[in-house]
This record gives sequence, C-alpha cells and structure tokens, in this order.
Amino acid sequence: MIMEKSKVLIVGGTGYLGKRLVKASLAVGHQTYILHRPEIGLDIEKIQMLFSFKEQGAHLVSGSLDDHQSLVNAVKLVDVVICAISGVHLRSHQILLQLKLVDAIKEAGNVKRFLPSEFGTDPAKMENAMEPGKITFDDKMKVRKAIEEGGIPFTYVSSNCFAGYFVGGLCQPAQILPSKDSVVLFGDGNTPAIYVDEDDIAMYTIKTVDDPRTLNKTLYIRPSKNILSQRQVVETWEKLIGKELHKSSNSKEEFLAIIKGLSYAEQVGLIHYYHVFYEGCLANFEIGNEGVEATQLYPEINYISVEEYLKRYL
Ligand SMILES: NC(=O)c1ccc[n+]([C@@H]2O[C@H](COP(=O)([O-])OP(=O)(O)OC[C@H]3O[C@@H](n4cnc5c(N)ncnc54)[C@H](OP(=O)(O)O)[C@@H]3O)[C@@H](O)[C@H]2O)c1
Repeated sequence: MIMEKSKVLIVGGTGYLGKRLVKASLAVGHQTYILHRPEIGLDIEKIQMLFSFKEQGAHLVSGSLDDHQSLVNAVKLVDVVICAISGVHLRSHQILLQLKLVDAIKEAGNVKRFLPSEFGTDPAKMENAMEPGKITFDDKMKVRKAIEEGGIPFTYVSSNCFAGYFVGGLCQPAQILPSKDSVVLFGDGNTPAIYVDEDDIAMYTIKTVDDPRTLNKTLYIRPSKNILSQRQVVETWEKLIGKELHKSSNSKEEFLAIIKGLSYAEQVGLIHYYHVFYEGCLANFEIGNEGVEATQLYPEINYISVEEYLKRYL
C-alpha cells in the first residue's frame, strides 16, 4: 500500500530557512501550504516569493499569529506544521510567538506532528549557557515545554551551524565571505564544530515528516565530512586557493572582553559562537535515546561538504 504523503503547513515560509523548507517540501511531493500573513503588507519581495511558490504548486493560506481563529483554520488543512519563524537577534527574534501556534494546534487537534523553529544548537543541552546568549535556548525550551504539555507529537531539528553564516566567513563572526589574506582563530582553533548547507537542512527536515523513526525525537544533523574545527575549515580554504592565510587568535578571555562592549543583539550572537568554538557544544556529546542522526537515517541525501561549499567563493 502506498502511503499518502502528509500535507505540510510552513509558517515563516519566506524566511532564510523557511523558503528552503518550502522548496524541499514541494520537491519531495508533499501538498505544501504556506501561511501568508497580512502583516507582510507591501513587502514586494515576500509577496513575489509567495506567488512564485504558488506557481510551483504551493497553497497560500491567509492567517496571522495575532488571529487565533485564522491559525486554527490554517492548521486544520494539514497533517504536519513546520515553523521557521525568525530566531537570530541581529535579524529578528520571534521564537515565543510560536506559543500562539501551539495553542492553535492544540485546539485544532488534527496535527500529527509539529516541528518548531529550532534549527541550531540543541537548546536542551544549553541550560548552563552564558547570558545574554542563553535567551535563545530558554525561549526555544519554553516552546518545547508548551508542545510537550499540550501532548503534541513533535520532531526537533538540531541542524548545527548554517554553512552560509559560518563556513563562508571561515567561522568568524560578522564575516560571510572567506578572506584570501588573514583569519582570526578562536583560541587554538582546534575545537570541532558541525556545518550544514541550508538546503540540506531543509531536505533532512522534510524527510522526517512521515518518518516514524523521528517521531518525538530530536534529529541531529551531523554530516561526518563536516565535523571540523575552525582550523580545518581554514585549511580546506587554503588548499583551494593555494595559499596560507595569516593567522592570529583571541583567547577565551580576550573574546569575552571584546563582547562586553557590543550591543545586546551582537552579544547574544557572539555568546553562541563562544559556546560553539571555545566549548565545543555541538559535537561534545553522544546522541542518546532521545535523538537520531540525519545522515544515518537518510544516506541517500548527497550532502554538500565544507570543501564543496567553499568552492563557490573561488
Ligand atoms: N544554526 C544556525 O546557524 C542558524 C542561523 C540562522 C538561524 N537559525 C535558526 O533558524 C530559524 C529560522 O531563522 P531564519 O534566520 O531563517 O529566520 P528569518 O529569515 O529571520 O525569518 C523567518 C520568518 O519569520 C517570520 N517572522 C518574522 N517576524 C515575524 C513576526 N513578527 N510575526 C510573525 N512572523 C514573523 C517571517 O515569515 P513570513 O513573513 O513568511 O510570515 C520571516 O520570513 C530560527 O529558529 C533561528 O534561530 C539557525
């Protein structure tokens, strides 16, 4: 018997990750619904993106996070809800708005699975994170609590570092293009982190939708070729350009001192870099019974390696 693919609603479908989730959902053949919020108003880029998705077969559903009934109506159309609402302070941080979506899912009562906006470090592992960066993890955990208390089936996606943010700039904050001259390392630069191309994150996420192995689990995306220290990312780039970069470094203490003078949003972001590149919070634990690993579940996905990713900048 061929199982029909779940209908999927994507909230935040015009976002940096959200638009990739829409594309992956359509590519896999799910009936794909996208929440079209009236608040986007005259944002021509978003409107055009939404209508280009419609041309590709997506359904646009009108609804607002401030209009409970519209959310309930939207949720009732589908089996699975994926939220990719913003969660980067330097852009916008709206993670707690998802509590309204959780209320709507509870009331609608038909949703087989909810994937909240996580897509980064596993917040369950970050209860001792430093302020002010901790807010991101705390807010994501508040959403998890509401989901689990509401008895909503879930999958949490821990996708580690977005390649565009981290690989492009050789892991340096506020840099998204690789220098051909110099690089500043976090300490000795030897702490392993994990990098995943954003389109791959979207595809792994969509693969979980009808997969019983990922129900009520955390999906960790750990492509083995992409578990690399900052120094290894830099060496990969050096090999590609045939030149060694000049290297300097910041000790932990120097890095924390630099952060102190920055804006709140910058501090939040840089504390995340601190936990990743000085403490190794992405790769310093084994996946337990609460989790599954994406490249093992879906070996058919030919993920982009860090080396391939960097080639685009040559
Ligand atoms: N691991 C990493 O390296 C990394 C990097 C970046 C982000 N992330 C995570 O990825 C997730 C998505 O982030 P993103 O950068 O893709 O988000 P984004 O592009 O900044 O925003 C995504 C969408 O959020 C919706 N949104 C924004 N403000 C809203 C509001 N006031 N009310 C309702 N909806 C609003 C909008 O959707 P619509 O206009 O379509 O409704 C927007 O397009 C977050 O959880 C974030 O923490 C992880």
